[in-house]
Amino acid sequence: MDANEILLYEHKIIYSLLNKLKIKIEEIKKTRDVQGNFIDLLTDFFITYIDVYHHGKEENLMFEILKQKHLTVHHKNSMNLLIEQHDLGRKLIEKIIITSANYFKIKDQDQITKLIELLTQFHKTYIEHAQFEDNIFFKEVTNYFTEEEKEQLTQDFFKFNIKMINEKYKTLIDML
Ligand SMILES: [Fe+2]
Ligand SMILES: [Fe+2]
Repeated sequence: MDANEILLYEHKIIYSLLNKLKIKIEEIKKTRDVQGNFIDLLTDFFITYIDVYHHGKEENLMFEILKQKHLTVHHKNSMNLLIEQHDLGRKLIEKIIITSANYFKIKDQDQITKLIELLTQFHKTYIEHAQFEDNIFFKEVTNYFTEEEKEQLTQDFFKFNIKMINEKYKTLIDML
């Protein structure tokens, strides 16, 4: 597996989550209720898998190398847009956590309406984001990397995976 294939594989897992999310949004629309367990799982998936594990590789490893290259204006703009979308995802999850907490506190239906909007926006943003990376961005920017850099990036991704899982559970011990 090379660096690009690792990112595409992670996208497949993210698409599975997004498919489940779509079903959950429809359920929330019908029942006008949401389970705390679902919000907890979505939050953990976003923070741990999407943001730390996946965006970590993109932003801290792949994009850092690209920033040192003479990118075309188009590729530079595309990379900046992807970084902005990562930030938008973080903001949306923050709002989803706050809105659902408000709902659990006062059981206000306006919070459910807001939550449906936020979850729908999150779903749309991430589908479009991952599809753009899969079908266009990663394919095009691979040409900026030498074969040695591609090999190094792949090794760095594997090292990142090992470091990340160890850090996560070391932090968990500190919380006990
Ligand atoms: Fe991304
Ligand atoms: Fe991605």
